[in-house]
Amino acid sequence: MHLNAITRAVSPRINQCELSFHTRQPIDAIKAMAQHKEYEAGLTRLGVRVHSLPAEPDLPDSVFVEDAALVFDELAVLPVMGAASRRPEIKSLAETIARYRPIKFLVEPGTLDGGDVLRAGKRIFVGLTKRTTVEAIDQLRNLLRPHNYTVEPVEIRNVLHLKSACSHIGNNTLLVNRTLLNADAFGEFELIDVPTEEPAAANALMINDVVIIPASFPKTCALLRNRGFVVQTVDLSELQKAEAGVTCCSLIFRTVN
Ligand code: GLY
Repeated sequence: MHLNAITRAVSPRINQCELSFHTRQPIDAIKAMAQHKEYEAGLTRLGVRVHSLPAEPDLPDSVFVEDAALVFDELAVLPVMGAASRRPEIKSLAETIARYRPIKFLVEPGTLDGGDVLRAGKRIFVGLTKRTTVEAIDQLRNLLRPHNYTVEPVEIRNVLHLKSACSHIGNNTLLVNRTLLNADAFGEFELIDVPTEEPAAANALMINDVVIIPASFPKTCALLRNRGFVVQTVDLSELQKAEAGVTCCSLIFRTVN
């Protein structure tokens, strides 16, 4: 089995990105591009095969590929994204994903962002947000039922996506900020709360046994290491101004060769 990541270079128009909960700050696009390249290099060092797509210059948020597609072992699901400005991102991504998976599409009026979809084995949790609707969650459930996944909605508040508020970090454990979500759905998981000083630290990317988090969250890094997790950090300070986390910048999936 090989781990693959689809990534896309940062748009030079990143300063026109969508913002929901962050105040707009200037983003140094050149620095963001360099940090993104280092993010890709970090994945490569962990043995991930990185498929790096060229930038979509006219689509400011298109670096955040996680939001535009869901890639499961059996199929890929392409949503109608919650932000109308982001919907054109899907076309070129679909062409790449079609090389690896059969594709199914969600349809309007349901909308969904991949950042709202948390996977833990065959359990799929989907955040109910301004971007993701009950209609889209029902469509996703119907597509995944034949493949034995369960799909459960999760209420979240004051944050863009479900995965801004929690991440699966292996060992049946979720890294969470419980002030941002209703954790009732996670009864069977062990929960690790992010330190109160780092409320945005619950977005983590798991690659094999390594948990990747932004370098701006040293207390979370220390907490996870004390709990026995192998942690690597990556500097994504510019893309964090665009409301990004570490998971948003890649679509991770397995292939047999
Ligand atoms: N800037 C990321 C998003 O709003 O989708």
